[in-house]
Amino acid sequence: MAAPTATPTETIRFTVNDTPVELDAPGGRRLLDVLRYDLGLTGTKEGCGEGECGACSVLIDGDVVDSCLVPVCQVARHDVRTVEGLADGVRLDPLQSAFLEAGGTQCGICTPGMLMAARAFLASGAEPTDGAIREAIAGNLCRCTGYTKIIEAIALAAGAVPAFRHMPSTGAVRRVAAPPNGGPAIVPSPTLRQALRLLAETGGRPIAGGTDVMVALAARSLPRDGPLLDIWGLEELRGIRLEGDELVLGALTTYAELRRSRVVAEALPVLAEIAATIGAAQIQNRGTVGGNVINASPAGDMLPLLLATESSIVLASVRGERTVPASAFWSGYRRTVRAADELVVRIRIPLVPDRRVRYRKIGTRRALAISKVVMAVAWREDGSTWRDVRIGLGSVAERPIRALGAEAVLEGSRPTTETADRAAAAVEAEIRPIDDVRSTADYRRAVSGRVLRRIVLEAGEAGAR
Ligand SMILES: Cc1cc2nc3c(=O)[nH]c(=O)nc-3n(C[C@H](O)[C@H](O)[C@H](O)COP(=O)(O)OP(=O)(O)OC[C@H]3O[C@@H](n4cnc5c(N)ncnc54)[C@H](O)[C@@H]3O)c2cc1C
Ligand code: FES
Ligand code: FES
Repeated sequence: MAAPTATPTETIRFTVNDTPVELDAPGGRRLLDVLRYDLGLTGTKEGCGEGECGACSVLIDGDVVDSCLVPVCQVARHDVRTVEGLADGVRLDPLQSAFLEAGGTQCGICTPGMLMAARAFLASGAEPTDGAIREAIAGNLCRCTGYTKIIEAIALAAGAVPAFRHMPSTGAVRRVAAPPNGGPAIVPSPTLRQALRLLAETGGRPIAGGTDVMVALAARSLPRDGPLLDIWGLEELRGIRLEGDELVLGALTTYAELRRSRVVAEALPVLAEIAATIGAAQIQNRGTVGGNVINASPAGDMLPLLLATESSIVLASVRGERTVPASAFWSGYRRTVRAADELVVRIRIPLVPDRRVRYRKIGTRRALAISKVVMAVAWREDGSTWRDVRIGLGSVAERPIRALGAEAVLEGSRPTTETADRAAAAVEAEIRPIDDVRSTADYRRAVSGRVLRRIVLEAGEAGAR
């Protein structure tokens, strides 16, 4: 039998806690493994290995991420900070002192991740209300201390946390090498043109924020030797802008960017509302709209909105660009009409004057819940009559769908109790949900009806005021 070939490595330069690092490793090696095993920074812990527990949280350029989901090639030229980089020499960071004072740690497994998530939050300048602190650490699980003391500690440190002091680099570069075959290889693609050429030649799988791909690699549901193409650095796929009467999102727009964007806040605030329900800060800093569209999960939270707003998805390849309406994009369970050599480059969302949009996500809990039902409803009001009604639904069929029957009931109607009941009955009749680990078909059907009914009634009450 032929000896297995070694995974190709690349030289990746970045800084960790202000120390320049030069690493030889396959680009897909997890940042977590680089920190713990190549650099000996074992303060960063591994819990779940799939983005659910936050134990591996570190900061990249000040943003908190799960290092188990970051391929190390994506930190090239960036600044990584781990828990070892919080204290100033022997002097603890005020947040660390506050954890000790408030008794915010017991076994300590979650503590480094908690500290990093809390540190990013406090440094953001956001007001440290109880709700905001809870949201900031929603991606970090603690199984022994209990959250009350942790929240107390974070509140205690608010206002006392200094900006990171960037130590003058000593110039001593740490040169390290990962063990052979220490992760999958990832092909870099510095420009869109190169990325499209590589896709055409290799048929590789793009990796954007990696929040789906890295989980699939860890679970071995994606082969580790299949070619992966890094698109995270493509500037051409970034940016949120208005173009005529459309809101245009670059495919690499992250949920954190949607939440921060002034353009979004003015043009389509529901987008920021949706982004806030997707994972926790660690996922929102990495997960992209393009990744959500291509992952094509029936539970993908962005997808019902793209259906309800009649958005379109722009694909590019070496053959040029084509634009596909969202209604024709998802062709089956986790399937899309994207060809293997195409990249999603943009999403175009028409902005319709006086359109109203409502969104609801029903999950098991508020943070980190994959939806049991997700619904977006868009309409215009002509006096008190509803026009141009569009309803997008997720988690109720093998792919995200429009609820055409319920749309027909609402079109040209007024939002009365009778209309709301008829629309609810229509949606319950037309969807084909399934039983799965997250919910039952009966529950999903009943909830879809109730959610639509409530949206209609709330709109009716708002109109009557
Ligand atoms: C803990 C956790 C919680 C999550 N919570 C939610 C949630 O609440 N709601 C939700 O909807 N999702 C959730 N997700 C799933 C995931 O975060 C989103 O689907 C995210 O938008 C994926 O984006 P990404 O950039 O990380 O995708 P990646 O993992 O990089 O890629 C995902 C897929 O899209 C392809 N791809 C990516 N970008 C492009 C592009 N521009 N062109 C062509 N193909 C592309 C990749 O090849 C891959 O097949 C969660 C994931 C985790 C780990
Ligand atoms: S180890 Fe659990 S999120 Fe990374
Ligand atoms: S201190 Fe033990 S898990 Fe949080």
